[in-house]
Amino acid sequence: MAGEEVLNLSVGEPDFPMPELAREYARKTIEEGRNRYTDVTGIPELRERIQRKLAEDNDLDYAPGDIVVANGAKHALFNAFLALCGERDEVIVPAPYWVTYPEQVRLTGAEPVIAPTGEGFTLTADLLETVVTPQTKAVVLNSPANPTGATYSKPELEALAEVVLRHDLYVVEDLIYEYFHYGDSPVPSIASLGPELQDRTVIVNGVSNSCAMTGWRVGYTAAPQAITQLIRRLQGQATSNVSIVAQYAAIGAMDSVPWAEIKSYRPRRDLAHHRLASISGVRCAVPAGAFYLFPNVAELLGDQCQTSDEFCAQLLADTGVGLVPGSGFGAPDHIRLSYAVDVPVLEAALDRLAEFAAN
Ligand SMILES: Cc1ncc(COP(=O)(O)O)c(C=O)c1O
Repeated sequence: MAGEEVLNLSVGEPDFPMPELAREYARKTIEEGRNRYTDVTGIPELRERIQRKLAEDNDLDYAPGDIVVANGAKHALFNAFLALCGERDEVIVPAPYWVTYPEQVRLTGAEPVIAPTGEGFTLTADLLETVVTPQTKAVVLNSPANPTGATYSKPELEALAEVVLRHDLYVVEDLIYEYFHYGDSPVPSIASLGPELQDRTVIVNGVSNSCAMTGWRVGYTAAPQAITQLIRRLQGQATSNVSIVAQYAAIGAMDSVPWAEIKSYRPRRDLAHHRLASISGVRCAVPAGAFYLFPNVAELLGDQCQTSDEFCAQLLADTGVGLVPGSGFGAPDHIRLSYAVDVPVLEAALDRLAEFAAN
């Protein structure tokens, strides 16, 4: 790749700027000298804003007291797992999965049980049934998903909900890519299927992806009171509140979601998918959401590159294109490509990938 620029399609965050209103609220918070602790669970104004978002976007009825603002969705997820499970419990994690889920489950002392998924990378009721045991405490749903972009439809969630209720499971539902959805209707939440489901669900979300504020660390859980109280106690001893500046900024962000930038990802998905699908030996589903493509490259593996790890390492060395191997996501025959980059970069990277695959 002598002299060729590195084209990095491995990054898992949006490439547009954060909303100006979020910056303005942050500046105002600093200028007004708001520098004290806040409530462990977050400032009331932010929790009320989240309550309104959950009602408007997700048709969910929560009180501000059901919400805990955490240091990013990652921290919110860890709070959820810590509150729900411990030693001898099992948590079902559908594969391909975001790398953090099994690791966080293990940190609680519980066992992650990796579940296979169906055609479109979604967990079906039948597949869920095959992995439930008396020790199962919870199942993780990530919609749209990292790394596959797979998104659960309402009928799929209804089928899963029946199994969840019959076995008395909890659902940890990670909706962090919710706004990156290219279907006609919003991403449904399993909690919106009825009060029994809402009672068994911990919603996880935040402003990291939707408002391109990954560095600000604002996420949250919305959960039944008993779980929220546990999370409150955990967070009170572990970290206390999220930075007050970031909390006010998050209100500004939620008041000015950058929809035009978010929607600009759909043509990039179509472009990248079209180009990938034309490469011989690459098989790729059209994802309904997130900003990743997760093609199967099994046919390109062989003597030169035996695994997707070797494939990505060789691709980087030969062409300067950075992708993520599927092994860390529990899908070793796949690679993850993020299209949250400028179109010329995407096109150049796909040209190089096509040439590499042909050789
Ligand atoms: C599926 C999923 N959930 C949660 C997160 C973490 O979000 P945050 O940056 O808000 O901690 C990520 C970030 O990559 C993610 O891909």
